[in-house]
Amino acid sequence: MPGEIRGSTVAVGADRGNSSGVEPGSPEEERRRQEVIDSYKVVCLCNKIRRGVVQRAIAGGARTLDDVKRATRAGTGPCGAKRCGPVIAAMLRR
Ligand code: FES
Repeated sequence: MPGEIRGSTVAVGADRGNSSGVEPGSPEEERRRQEVIDSYKVVCLCNKIRRGVVQRAIAGGARTLDDVKRATRAGTGPCGAKRCGPVIAAMLRR
């Protein structure tokens, strides 16, 4: 019957191919997947700023902790960057 759904598993996008050029199931695909997951992790707990936001600020030209603070508000919370400052500094060194 047209439109009938059988079984309980739906493979979303399974027939759309791979537009990223990365082999499905390869270490490169896993690395990229992990990068996306990591970008959602909170770096600045005081202001709830995610790693991806800081990464975009750095990619956009932020070179110091103060640059990142101005661009993202990360490091401007009540702890005074005691928790997130070292993490952001490490991201700036990479
Ligand atoms: S954790 Fe970033 S300012 Fe406190």
